[in-house]
This record gives sequence, C-alpha cells and structure tokens, in this order.
Amino acid sequence: MKKHQVAPSVLAADFTNLASDFKMVNDSQADMFHVDVMDGRFVPNISFGMNIISQMKKIATKPLDVHLMIVEPERYIEQFRAAGADIITVHFEACRHLHRVLQQIKATGAKAGVALNPHTRAEVLEPILEEIDLVCLMSVNPGFGGQKFIYQTIPKIKQLKQLIEIHNTATLIEIDGGVGLQNAEKILEAGADILVAGSSVFKSKNPTKAIEQLKNIGQNTFFV
Ligand code: DX5
Ligand code: ZN
Repeated sequence: MKKHQVAPSVLAADFTNLASDFKMVNDSQADMFHVDVMDGRFVPNISFGMNIISQMKKIATKPLDVHLMIVEPERYIEQFRAAGADIITVHFEACRHLHRVLQQIKATGAKAGVALNPHTRAEVLEPILEEIDLVCLMSVNPGFGGQKFIYQTIPKIKQLKQLIEIHNTATLIEIDGGVGLQNAEKILEAGADILVAGSSVFKSKNPTKAIEQLKNIGQNTFFV
C-alpha cells in the first residue's frame, strides 16, 4: 500500500506563536502544511489571506497546501501562487467554470485541487478528473475547525477511488475535517491519500507525536 501523507491544518495553530508551531511541523513527519483561506462569503467564517501566507512561506520548509474557501477564486489564483502556495484547491461549488480555473492554477505552476462540500457527489468531477491533481473531500461543513467527522464521507471516498481507478488518473484523495486517530484508519482503508488534521494535532498534548501516530497508521499491518 502506498504511504499516505499527513497535512496539519494551521487554522488550529497558535497565531501568537506561529514560528514555533511551524518549526514543530517542519521537524515532524508531516508532509505539508494545510492552509485554510475563508472569506466570510463562501463560508461564514473569515481566516486570513495572501499576506499572512507569504509570511508563513518564509518559515515553512514543507509545501503549502492552500484550501480556498472563497467565492470567485479565479480572481486571486496568481496572488496566492505568488504568496507561496504549492497546491491551490478551489471549491467545486464556488466555480462556474471549474475546468478553466484548473487550467489557470496549473498555468501558475501550482498543483490544482478541487474541494467538494459534504452534499456534493464525487461523480460531478468525473468528466474532468484527469485535470485534477487532488480532490479534497470535506468531511465537515467548511468554515470551522474542531467539528465532528461526517461518516457518510467513507462511502464517498470509495466512490471517488473507483472513479480514479476507472479513469487511471494520478489524482490524490485528501480528507479534510474531523480527522484524528479515532477514524484515520477507516479513512485510509477507504482509499484516502492525504489526511488533513487541525485540532487532533495542534490541540493535542504532544503535536509531534500526534503527527507521527497519524503518519504511521497501517505501518504494522501486513498487506499481501
Ligand atoms: C474546515 C477546514 C479544515 C479545518 C480542519 O473548513 O477546511 O481544514 O482546519 O480542522 P479539524 O481537523 O479541527 O476538523
Ligand atoms: Zn481545509
């Protein structure tokens, strides 16, 4: 089985002490930083924008996986790339011309991701799956950290995995929201490639260890 990746969500980090939280992730087994941008329109909450991300870029030694929970993301793609985004993920529900936005993202040199809200079927992406580097399945309603995992995400991961196999694309499946040690194994078994974890990492007593545990799930399982 291919090793999965872990992406701590910095939304749950300590913003008075970002440098030390970033150092912790840099020094950990995490694969990248998950960076949530919220505009108060696509989602009810507001987080931060490209100015903060360009500061984060200076202290991150791992890629920035930028999740745009904003309306009309096409207006800002180049700016987020210039700020340091390595992956730019837009919401299916926020794009009238998703195929065009994906081309726009790839033209900047970033990897292109699409996020789906819990109510959106995985099948909507089938016609353009080969254009997508990463599908982020929201396992909570976007807008806030610390919410409960929506269990219907599990069959949705399996459906998406099947589509990826049928079309033989290199698309990765990322799961975002309510992910922790209590459900990570099931999520990975269903076919996920990347685990986003906010609260379960930064609110734990030992965040480095929490990352290590998430990263090493399935390690001792014998696959034939
Ligand atoms: C939710 C964000 C998530 C969030 C995850 O809108 O997209 O990335 O930070 O946080 P937890 O892991 O606490 O659910
Ligand atoms: Zn996110």
